[in-house]
Amino acid sequence: MSDKTSLYQDVRKQIASVIDGETSTTARYATAACLLRETFGARFYWTGFYLVDPMKPTELVVGPYQGTLGCLRIPFGKGVCGVAAASSETQLVEDVHAFPGHIACDSRSNSEIVVPVLDRDGKLAAVLDVDSTDLGAFDTDDQAGLEAICADLLTI
Ligand code: SME
Repeated sequence: MSDKTSLYQDVRKQIASVIDGETSTTARYATAACLLRETFGARFYWTGFYLVDPMKPTELVVGPYQGTLGCLRIPFGKGVCGVAAASSETQLVEDVHAFPGHIACDSRSNSEIVVPVLDRDGKLAAVLDVDSTDLGAFDTDDQAGLEAICADLLTI
């Protein structure tokens, strides 16, 4: 097993243990954002959640995050987060500048991964967005690790 995969297993357990019994989704998302950033350090330059706005169900609004100032709202279909939300599929982007419609909240971000977060009914609740200042910072090990964590967030 790669070092990275074992780090993901450890942080997944840590998150699950801290959120165990916690009913607030804000507390759950905030815990995951903090522990992911603590685990992976500067490679996770921006780490956080965009939540489906219950008042505008085709718009994301920023939730708990670690990093520089994020955009407040992202329409479904726009940018990497909006495409992940519209498709409910993980987006792994090696070079955000080559992604049509990318939203540059911080021009220092160069690559990104966005993973959908589903509720118990399988409905999209949020997306987890991780941005790096490096090009090609994320691979399929990151995808597997983050998808496993996101699958836990609203179901355990
Ligand atoms: N880069 C994202 C926008 C959100 S932030 O960078 C914090 C996107 O294109 O979806």
